Amino acid sequence: MIINCQNLHKTYLSDGKELHAVDNVNLSVSRGDFVIILGHSGSGKTTLLSLIGGLTSPNSGQVTINGTENWAQTDEELSNMRNRTIGFIFQFGSLIPTLTVLENVLLPLSFSDNPSGDRELALKLLGDVGLKDKTNVFPSQLSGGQQRRVAIARAFINRPAIILADEPTGDLDEETEKEILTIFRKYNQEKNTTFMVVTHNRVLATTQINPRIFGMRSGVLTEQLTDAELVK
Ligand SMILES: Nc1ncnc2c1ncn2[C@@H]1O[C@H](COP(=O)(O)OP(=O)(O)O)[C@@H](O)[C@H]1O
Ligand SMILES: [Mg+2]
Repeated sequence: MIINCQNLHKTYLSDGKELHAVDNVNLSVSRGDFVIILGHSGSGKTTLLSLIGGLTSPNSGQVTINGTENWAQTDEELSNMRNRTIGFIFQFGSLIPTLTVLENVLLPLSFSDNPSGDRELALKLLGDVGLKDKTNVFPSQLSGGQQRRVAIARAFINRPAIILADEPTGDLDEETEKEILTIFRKYNQEKNTTFMVVTHNRVLATTQINPRIFGMRSGVLTEQLTDAELVK
């Protein structure tokens, strides 16, 4: 089991009241699973991914990645785990505007054991996402969809076992969305990469990826067994 969440709770104080952003989530994800989380805005999807990725600490409960509990580790161990094991694709673009496309993709390696980077892999990844010709341009010279694809290539540079993607295809046209899903599927199938993809878009759930689909509502996560049960 690569990801395990047990009785996971995260509350925020909102207007003096406790808000249960993540409410008693239990989840087991095996290596190579493709997990999709659907849910309305505010249902706790981003909070859950940050807990799993060790970016946010829970109020109670546990997250274990490859058998090691996130918050039983020192800050350094936890950040090493993040760098080695997880590729993040955030909801909002996070490319560094003063770095080229290639430099942006190589950036995560500057915090790793291999700070000089893996240019060859970066170029291969940029080829995979269809940006071979754009390696030396700056993010401002790319369309929104192209920028998103750079962020995807960057998430794979550490050869992560897990990809956590937060609405990776939000505000993209359907064609680009399909291309991105095809890339995800390729990495899922060829490299057995585990995916957790948060979305409120039904298109994602109906591709040929054959995912495990979960619905999230007011912090509560429920696996959806049939299409009829999907959150509307
Ligand atoms: N840092 C925070 N402080 C206070 N409330 C927060 C914070 N982050 C998220 N929330 C609240 O927690 C709930 C879940 O948020 P979020 O995980 O971002 O949901 P989603 O990603 O599904 O839109 C929302 O009600 C949101 O307003
Ligand atoms: Mg969100």
